[in-house]
Amino acid sequence: MEIIRDPAEMQQRALTWKKAGLSLGFVPTMGYLHEGHLRLVDEARGRCRRTVVSLFVNPMQFGPSEDLDRYPRDEAGDLAKLEQRGVDAVFIPSQEAMYPEGFETIVETLNLPNHLCGVRRKGHFRGVTTVVLKLFLCVTPDVAVFGEKDYQQFLVIRRMTADLNLPIEVVGVPTIRESDGLALSSRNVFLSPEDRLRSTAIYRALVTARDMVRRGETDAVTVRNEMLRILEAAQGRVDYVAVVHPQSLVELEVIQGQAHAALAVFFGSTRLIDNMRLIG
Ligand code: PAJ
Repeated sequence: MEIIRDPAEMQQRALTWKKAGLSLGFVPTMGYLHEGHLRLVDEARGRCRRTVVSLFVNPMQFGPSEDLDRYPRDEAGDLAKLEQRGVDAVFIPSQEAMYPEGFETIVETLNLPNHLCGVRRKGHFRGVTTVVLKLFLCVTPDVAVFGEKDYQQFLVIRRMTADLNLPIEVVGVPTIRESDGLALSSRNVFLSPEDRLRSTAIYRALVTARDMVRRGETDAVTVRNEMLRILEAAQGRVDYVAVVHPQSLVELEVIQGQAHAALAVFFGSTRLIDNMRLIG
């Protein structure tokens, strides 16, 4: 497994593979890898002859009061996992390589960030689209794999890729969960044992919402209130809970055809997000 830190070297390596007719799959990450990330790696490997994973904690997508400084890191552990999973190259650019002195170019989707996490984390998705486009231009993959755990991010990247005519297939992978339903996340390590138990309310709230809709409930406010009740009963501090259209992310009043639930909730100081298709 190759470790590449220089963007130009990454571009060269991708070019040699392309010239040899080898398809290239890519999984961008911020490291501290867990089984959810590794499922994306498996997906990329299943679709392409060569696989690249990037490790880069992107400062541009963190707000001033967010957890950039305490974001967990473990490069050696990540490399061991990726090697074992059969990855061909790991791209680990430095901050200076990604954001050199004088950096001033951004790429931004205009509407999708006006919902859900984009409202609560101003500038977050601009940071995501900018870094992912840069990573795409370094790795030049045929296929890029993202988790549906970050559903809004997946939609934003898919939109950007289509809007900019990038010759990249964006693939989504369903959320990988613990046996009690909690979505795997690098941030779960911050949960106290008590909060870890309480956090199972997230999955319970989503499944309850889905069951309500399956049983015929069409009033989005009723469904949302029930999710709120479950989260608050578990002492979660709700950032947002919403029933939205799965493509536009516009909040629904009436559930018919297609609906998706999304939420962000703090347990202690740890903000967790999750989502689930309710219908359609
Ligand atoms: P990160 O949080 O490290 O996640 C990297 C990828 O793993 C994302 O596509 C995310 O959706 C996916 N992922 C995380 N937990 C998952 C789970 N439980 N099941 C399935 N997939 C999961 O998302 C980012 O990094 C960054 O925003 C990035 C795209 C790398 C840009 O900086």
